[in-house]
Amino acid sequence: MLILGIESSCDETGIGLYDTQAGLLSEALHSQVALHEAYGGVVPELASRDHIRRIIPLVRKTLQDGNRSLQDLDAVAYTAGPGLAGALLVGASVAESLALALGIPVVGVHHLEGHLLSPLLGENPPEFPFVALLVSGGHTQFMAVRAVGDYELLGETVDDAAGEAFDKTAQLLGLPYPGGPALSRLAEGGNPERFALPRPMLQSGDLHMSFSGLKTAVSLLVKSRGNDAHADIAASFEAAVADVLSQKALQALESTGMDRLVVAGGVGANRRLRETLSHRLGRRGARVAFPPLRLCTDNGAMIAYAGACRLGRHPQAARQPGRFTIHPRWNLQEYAQAIAPR
Ligand code: KG4
Ligand code: ZN
Repeated sequence: MLILGIESSCDETGIGLYDTQAGLLSEALHSQVALHEAYGGVVPELASRDHIRRIIPLVRKTLQDGNRSLQDLDAVAYTAGPGLAGALLVGASVAESLALALGIPVVGVHHLEGHLLSPLLGENPPEFPFVALLVSGGHTQFMAVRAVGDYELLGETVDDAAGEAFDKTAQLLGLPYPGGPALSRLAEGGNPERFALPRPMLQSGDLHMSFSGLKTAVSLLVKSRGNDAHADIAASFEAAVADVLSQKALQALESTGMDRLVVAGGVGANRRLRETLSHRLGRRGARVAFPPLRLCTDNGAMIAYAGACRLGRHPQAARQPGRFTIHPRWNLQEYAQAIAPR
């Protein structure tokens, strides 16, 4: 089965072509970073317009690179939510129209399911069951993943997502958008032990987390110290986030009796987080899997793959194209249960 995947939930237009026999054939991505940079964040209307401009040429390029034509497709998968409404509508309309014209089914994929399954696209894919740590710009969650579609939320942030904390802290340090990668570059030359930043909720006894206090602590530090401390502040900030996520990850493995952690989402690209998790979990005999860097942030390959998993395991997820809704806010567990009630 050959599946085209379309991602347009935020500021990346991503297309992927996945063959259930041969694996990922090709992918193409356009990032809107340069477009939104001047505004210090994603401007939804500009994002939608840019998706419209990019999406068809990217679909053409992906098919060409994969040596396939539209007629070879068996299904189209697209991100149906959560995300920016206008941006989601672009991917949804293109996917639905394509499928309608080709007479093939569509499947609306949950963006987080795409992230969650993306490590399975890498080399040496992890086996089920595992604990997933989803760390993106909008989410920070621990999930018990027992199979495709079988997701149990174990705990999540009660306020800011880790990626959001990276972006806001970067802004306080005067770094350009998107903040996460810029902050981690600055942190490379800093001393992570110079400032003891707060690690809230470590003793909460559950798997919930809080990251909004960190930016307040950083804001106070920035005011009281000169510019020379910025690299140390960035490194200390990263160390605090990596520390909280690693300690909670250990608790998540302990409480589920699992020995495997899979990290997904944009913050999973962070080097210090990768090192801290590998080191601390390795010491306890647990394994950590990270998706390849290019699959950590938003991309079309993970949507094509999630669509393929869905269709393979729950053929009822396939729909005839034509009538569709997008879900700017969407709970992953509700989505999973609607397709395959337990
Ligand atoms: O998964 P993603 O591409 O989009 C969402 O679905 O949110 O994640 C984007 C988030 C942003 O907050 C970005 O700053 C963060 O991931 N990010 C990073 C790094 N690369 C991206 N955070 C820390 N270190 C990085 N290297
Ligand atoms: Zn994402």
